[in-house]
Amino acid sequence: MTFENILVENSQLVTTITINRPQKLNALNKATIAELSQALSHCKSDSNTRAIILTGSGEKSFVAGADISEFSSFNAEQGAELAAVGQSSLFDLAENLNKPIIAAVNGFALGGGLELAMSCHIRIASSHAKLGLPEVTLGLIPGYGGTQRLSQLVGRGKANEMIFSAGMLSAADALQWGLVNHVVESSELMNKAMELALKIAGNSPMAIAAAIRSVNAGFQAQRPGFSAEIKEFGELFGTADFKEGVGAFLEKRKPQF
Ligand code: COA
Repeated sequence: MTFENILVENSQLVTTITINRPQKLNALNKATIAELSQALSHCKSDSNTRAIILTGSGEKSFVAGADISEFSSFNAEQGAELAAVGQSSLFDLAENLNKPIIAAVNGFALGGGLELAMSCHIRIASSHAKLGLPEVTLGLIPGYGGTQRLSQLVGRGKANEMIFSAGMLSAADALQWGLVNHVVESSELMNKAMELALKIAGNSPMAIAAAIRSVNAGFQAQRPGFSAEIKEFGELFGTADFKEGVGAFLEKRKPQF
């Protein structure tokens, strides 16, 4: 398989996938989402993969969100489709994969980037990482499951605060809130992720797949929240706030709502 936007390496039964668009802070454009989906689908049945590490290239950013320049002219229907296709092809695929995915959060994990990290089974952050859901500054809400998975991980009150304020959490606060499992110095991030991945790789793959299915089954009752999010996300496209928020980002100025 050849990819343009991601790098894939395998060693000792661990596959490492690196999102590789550092000049755009690894923002998730359509092509990157498709390649990640393809790489994860391959891992599913690959006998050389027992655990996966997902990270971003460079030290600045894990993923700075969905690629805003790609959806700036979308209407409501295209907005809803963007969220629905993304959720099923990548975010739900990751969460339900039969092999554990560890997100190694090496910098900004914003918007779709934090949503991607939250779709992974485990998160480890470097000490300078910043995590947040800034969509309301764009006149949007998270559309890749963020309203649901953030509430599951940190509780409704803290999720509300993060989403409404668009604030960024430091790695230390994310650890305290339970949003990440570990925080380490950035020079240690990949070692720590590999150490955990190797521990997992030595255990029964069948039992781990069963554990993932069981843990996820407990959250099935919350599925309607994901559909509600897609609908609300789509409806915000085409509003004056969306135009102002996205326009302001592209023009590198503060939005006026
Ligand atoms: N989509 C598209 N491009 C993005 C992006 C995104 N989500 N995030 C960053 N980029 C691009 C910038 O436009 C810039 O490109 P340019 O050099 O061609 O102008 C490049 O990546 C570097 O980003 P820049 O904003 O110059 O870096 P910074 O250090 O000043 O700020 C951030 C870093 C992460 C605070 C800032 O990039 C940001 O707010 N990004 C958007 C975060 C967001 O709202 N995500 C949710 C999307 S739904």
